Amino acid sequence: MNIDGKPYRTIWLGADGASVEIIDQTKLPFALEIVSLKTLEDAAHAISSMRVRGAPLIGATAAYGVALALQADASGEALDRACEVLAATRPTAINLLWALGEMKKVVQDQPRDSRAALAYARAAEICNEDVETCRMIGEHGVGLIRAHAERKAGEPVNILTHCNAGWLAAVDWGTALAPIYRAHDEGLSVHVWVDETRPRNQGASLTAFELKAHGVPHTIVVDNAGGYLMQNKLVDLCIVGTDRTTASGDVANKIGTYLKALAAKDNYVQFFVALPHSTIDWSLDDGGGIPIEERDAEEVTHITGQLPDGSIATVAIAPDGSPAANYAFDITPARLITGLITERGITPATPEGLALLYPEHR
Ligand code: MRU
Repeated sequence: MNIDGKPYRTIWLGADGASVEIIDQTKLPFALEIVSLKTLEDAAHAISSMRVRGAPLIGATAAYGVALALQADASGEALDRACEVLAATRPTAINLLWALGEMKKVVQDQPRDSRAALAYARAAEICNEDVETCRMIGEHGVGLIRAHAERKAGEPVNILTHCNAGWLAAVDWGTALAPIYRAHDEGLSVHVWVDETRPRNQGASLTAFELKAHGVPHTIVVDNAGGYLMQNKLVDLCIVGTDRTTASGDVANKIGTYLKALAAKDNYVQFFVALPHSTIDWSLDDGGGIPIEERDAEEVTHITGQLPDGSIATVAIAPDGSPAANYAFDITPARLITGLITERGITPATPEGLALLYPEHR
């Protein structure tokens, strides 16, 4: 997607053919800073510090992390260590483990002197595949928006989204936002309610940044506004992303997603989840088995923003010493989900629906 008219992906190979460049998302929306990753440790730190975040992008960065590790040491021990270090960075997004599995498959039985090149090639392929997958999620999802647009005869279709599941969360396009970009590009009138998404505000800082850069009308709302908006018929449909979806259709996504799904159910608002195949955990049938990341309490008790002089500051918003809990994700049960938008089409959030779309996993 474009920033100031220049096309970007969220991750790409550096000009030296070895380092990997990323957009530092902790600096957005106030500064566009590109960071160069040169080692396995750089890649692991980029994921754990959330310079890169969002399930598909975490996977893509992990893939390049393996390539960076093998470029320094292509031994089997180095491969195992790289996978171990990267797997420990964030627990919920299954794309991370999926990407590490893909990398292992490609390199582990190959001669040592070919491993680094094979790893770089597979990492690039994973990125390209992600772009195409997300583009297809947009192709399939736009029909849902089109149907609302026909019904609304020129009035904007109001879509509520949570967290950031746009191009910054993937390599390009994004998952939940891909249908929205597609609809906007084909001239449909859309308006997006952007949940700010405390505690790290990925909605206010990243989703709003993306939508503004692409010219998509949007309004930032506090996380608790969704119920009110839905009761007052100000939301036509919800579309969110996911970090891990079970084979039965339960969805882990950013904390607060479940409450939006409950409000949607109570108000007869459609609730869709957009995801690529790499986000499905075929080993789980119950969302209760998904590990939920618990992050630093300081993300809850403090907030970071820009001061009038342009500098960035973190300030306390709670009494010094009050304990805080920071669960980063929650589980939305399949029964609250209208449908899953995938690169292969839209399916009910059921084991049968998913198995029909992905028969190779039956
Ligand atoms: O903690 P984050 O910012 O990595 O969480 C991101 C989300 O919850 C997204 O909604 C999810 O990864 C889907 S991204 C296409």
